[in-house]
Amino acid sequence: MKVIVGNNEQISKLIAEEFIKQVNEKPNSVLGLATGTSPLKVYANMIKAYKNGKVSYKDVVTFNLDEYIGLEGTHNQSYRYFMNDNLFDHIDIDKNNTHVLLGVGDYLAYANQYDELIKQAGGIDLQILGIGSDGHIAFNEPGTPFDSLTHVAELAESTIKDNSRLFNDISEVPTKAVTMGLKSIMNAKRIVLIATGKNKAQAIYNLLKGKMTEEVPCSILQKHPDCTIYVDEEAYSLVK
Ligand code: GLP
Repeated sequence: MKVIVGNNEQISKLIAEEFIKQVNEKPNSVLGLATGTSPLKVYANMIKAYKNGKVSYKDVVTFNLDEYIGLEGTHNQSYRYFMNDNLFDHIDIDKNNTHVLLGVGDYLAYANQYDELIKQAGGIDLQILGIGSDGHIAFNEPGTPFDSLTHVAELAESTIKDNSRLFNDISEVPTKAVTMGLKSIMNAKRIVLIATGKNKAQAIYNLLKGKMTEEVPCSILQKHPDCTIYVDEEAYSLVK
């Protein structure tokens, strides 16, 4: 794994440049997208590049990592809403080519098809990941099997607590989600992970210095052949 350290502005710009280059080289790229606070500036840079005529996303296909069970796509904390609001509504992407797992209705049937849909699209060319303070990626919490495909997951207490900042009350945070599995994520041809802030320092230490174990879901990335970890000084502080 390669590590790049910079402030949030710098690393977000570098990651956005990777996405823009990917799309310019292969206009029908398959992109793996993430939600959370971490990728926000990456998406802002991707929008800016589109508005400045530097890239078009019209033939791009996207797959998002996860979705809360129980939230409609119109709920302002659903990941479908997040993606529309922070990226898709501001670029020329065809929304029919954007895939986000369903949180309501027959979410299980869709989840069961998800890995096959990714495969049929040609596989993910470039995947962005955030990371949870407990080392989760997507909603793969500690203990998730490394060979997991898209599935229903229970959120860890610490994740519910971390994510409650975005809801009116902790009781409103869904306790379950549908998520791409660790194997689904590892199938991506290239992966970039972004982590900023002290709250991520232990997870980044475990990722870069710890042993590969299902107790630390992100540690599976140690065996990915093309993965770069972008961090700020705070997230990197325990490694140095
Ligand atoms: C959620 C998401 C993850 C994300 C994590 C970190 O749990 N399911 O995909 O990486 O939050 O979020 P943030 O970037 O807001 O710290």
